[in-house]
Amino acid sequence: MNDLFRRGLALALPLVLAAGCTPAAQKVDPPLAHASIGGPFTLTDQTGKRVSDRDFTGKFRLMYFGYTYCPDVCPVDVQNLARGLKVLEKRDAALAARIVPIFISVDPARDTPAVLKQFVGAFHPRMVGLTGTPAEIAQVAREFRIYYKAQAKDATGAYTVDHSRVAYLMGPEGQPLALVRQDGTPNEIADDLEQWAR
Ligand code: NI
Repeated sequence: MNDLFRRGLALALPLVLAAGCTPAAQKVDPPLAHASIGGPFTLTDQTGKRVSDRDFTGKFRLMYFGYTYCPDVCPVDVQNLARGLKVLEKRDAALAARIVPIFISVDPARDTPAVLKQFVGAFHPRMVGLTGTPAEIAQVAREFRIYYKAQAKDATGAYTVDHSRVAYLMGPEGQPLALVRQDGTPNEIADDLEQWAR
């Protein structure tokens, strides 16, 4: 949804990869191993509970930012990611159980916990939906390099939100690992998760 973001990332990735190639490295670093993406957050989940990044310690996090009223891309991407995780559950249930799918709203005005609950529940039983105050969402979006901007309201008061389209796999300590192909097939998404959630 945001070409600028993708171009920026395309430019940044080779540098990230080069930085990871130290002579002593035995294993291949994850693609985002040295990227400054992520950070602490405290938000409200789909049950109304306050949760922070520390509540996910020890779990890989499959993170996607969007909004439930998105007329096109978000529901499709979230469905793809959920299907990919379900494929991984069949391949390696223990590994899949260590991955939490998380949907963070960039439209906190409309995405209340109740709205989020219905949305995430439609895709995966373990999916966590997070919303917050406008300031909390602005902070977490900044930390994760997510652009979003609500567009002008139409005559009925409806509006769309332009936003970055990206899915991150973050590690058990909240560190960035890799981008996941949110527009890929369920098998491709399961491949991405299996490759980097180690
Ligand atoms: Ni969207």
